[in-house]
Amino acid sequence: MAERGIQSVLVENRVFEPNARFRDAVGAAHIPDLATYKAMYQRSLSDPEGFWGDVASDFTWFSPWKRVLEWSCPDAQWFVGATTNICFNCIDRQIDGGHGDDIAIIWEGEPANSSQPHGFEVRRITYRELHGEVCRCAHALRALGVSRGDIVTLYMGMVPELAIAMLACARIGAAHSVIFGGFAAPAIVDRVHDAASRVIVTCDGAFRRGAVVGLKGNVDEACKSLPEVQHVLVVRRTNTPVSWSEGRDVWWHDLVAAQQSSCPCEAMDSEDLLFLLYTSGSTGKPKGIRHTIGGYMVFTAATARWTFNLQPDRGQVFFCTADIGWVTGHSYVIYGILPNRVPTLMYEGAPNFPSESRLWSMVERHKVTQFYTAPTAIRAFMKWGDEHPKGHDLSSLILLGTVGEPINPEAWIWYHETIGASRCPIVDTMWQTETGGHIITPLPAAIATVPGSCTVPMFGVDAAIVDEQGEEQPPNVGGLLVIRQPWPGMLRGIHGDRERYVETYWSKVPGMYVAGDGARRDERGYFWIMGRIDDVINVSGHRLGTMEVESALVSHESVVEAAVVGMPHEIKGTGITAFVTLGPGWQDKAGKALARQLQEHVGREIGAIAKPDVIRFTQALPKTRSGKIMRRLLRDIAAGKDSGQDTTTLEDLSVVAKLRESDE
Ligand code: PRX
Repeated sequence: MAERGIQSVLVENRVFEPNARFRDAVGAAHIPDLATYKAMYQRSLSDPEGFWGDVASDFTWFSPWKRVLEWSCPDAQWFVGATTNICFNCIDRQIDGGHGDDIAIIWEGEPANSSQPHGFEVRRITYRELHGEVCRCAHALRALGVSRGDIVTLYMGMVPELAIAMLACARIGAAHSVIFGGFAAPAIVDRVHDAASRVIVTCDGAFRRGAVVGLKGNVDEACKSLPEVQHVLVVRRTNTPVSWSEGRDVWWHDLVAAQQSSCPCEAMDSEDLLFLLYTSGSTGKPKGIRHTIGGYMVFTAATARWTFNLQPDRGQVFFCTADIGWVTGHSYVIYGILPNRVPTLMYEGAPNFPSESRLWSMVERHKVTQFYTAPTAIRAFMKWGDEHPKGHDLSSLILLGTVGEPINPEAWIWYHETIGASRCPIVDTMWQTETGGHIITPLPAAIATVPGSCTVPMFGVDAAIVDEQGEEQPPNVGGLLVIRQPWPGMLRGIHGDRERYVETYWSKVPGMYVAGDGARRDERGYFWIMGRIDDVINVSGHRLGTMEVESALVSHESVVEAAVVGMPHEIKGTGITAFVTLGPGWQDKAGKALARQLQEHVGREIGAIAKPDVIRFTQALPKTRSGKIMRRLLRDIAAGKDSGQDTTTLEDLSVVAKLRESDE
């Protein structure tokens, strides 16, 4: 067995076949074997309309589609002319089916007092209760002036009211734009402005590692630059003092509680907007990815069902650890899970508070069956020590999943052995904010896994590795990851920026969706993701544009120029190194204190996730003769340093730059 140091490169060629114990645990798997996968995949590509029409007929539609698909590259319409409501399919349908008393959401708050072993605040919300809450919230939103077609911004912690507000928006035909609660006020301003939201839903604060994150304070700060915001609906969570703007601010417990508990669903066109979710690109501001109702609903619920083998009435409890502020939380905490009638477990807080056992204690107490997290979290679990998972009964688990970045084989094997007791299949799910749901992933009873590979394409996803001319590459030759046919969960555009949509995804290889990742396929046909090919860095499974961080840095008075690159990081996968040049009068301040100030500054401009791990002061940025920053050189320099170590003297990179100029 190879050494198990986290950074050691374990060569792991074992193939993990689908196993009988998983099949026993689930009874009949949805996709029971490789032959079924192959036949279904084949049909999904040769007859997408027949395939997705069949899948979609499992949902409730208020009126039928005229056509399953209209495709005029790069514009897809799915379930054309049909009307439905995703909130109905998540909630009402379960009640109508006689399952109103089944649990829809299990929510666990951050323990208020870590000295109390049983101090966990838990809510088990049935479909019927959820229905009442969502209807009341829907009326409350209308009372604040929200109507069909509006976009409501949600900037909240991981509280049930976030799920309720999303579903309430969907119920009345308003779209939502959820902003991750870790983002700072300037990031809120950009997103609210772009979405033209007049209503924001927030919380007084959110608990995280025993502290309170002042969400309302950030909204107040943002609203100074957002005259268009008419109302802020505030959930009381932390009971901390907040400032109040009379006429604009409204307490949730005053307004929502006073509403009626029934509110019919709006009949929405399949192609109406369901939500915007902002994500980073290589240039400019974050882009508002548009997802519409019908296709997203069918794709997320079906992929959740196939990939995680969700089955109602078998005691399953699904736990996705993602924050709802990211697409993983949208698709696999809420929209993909509720229609499958398996309880979804949602938690507030952090995996290492009040101890590093938090998640394992949750698995034990809630008898979690499917557990879905990110490689960065797995690497942190490894570092925290095996005693934490070993101290808990994890025998309820039947399947494990990962998402967000390539998983290193060390982390895969540890996850498999220490969490999954060598029994649970691991699904390494590759997808993006833009794809709505899984595009490449093993199916647990059908596909053998190899650590580090996300394996095979999802049904309906014609994934391939091509060169820039669109020519498919032979096995093990790297190229661009593309998708050659439309799929129901695909984005429908970038909000307010048609040109950027076409340019970013559809122009590099005409006629194909370019994901922005480099990848290869091995001789089995398995996909291996090699990483982003644009100026996007994947920090702890979250996408950040280097330019956003650079803009934040140069907005500090001391900085003249900044270049940001990714560097290997033990836990985050990729960390951030920023090379900065200082203005006149600042050069002699290059040092630890200024580096810390700059890190804090980026935290205030974007959010803590964007804080550079390392700041390096340089006399000048290395540039080619034509003035282009030599990013490849900077990446190499950044990789040569230990992560987390600040180099705080003023460096002169001009000599290395000259030596390297010919290679860039
Ligand atoms: O680079 C790929 C990486 O994450 C990017 C998408 O980021 P985002 O839109 O924030 O969505 C993350 C959660 C769906 C991709 O372009 N990525 C995501 N999953 C994997 C992955 N890379 C390798 N393996 C994965 N399983």
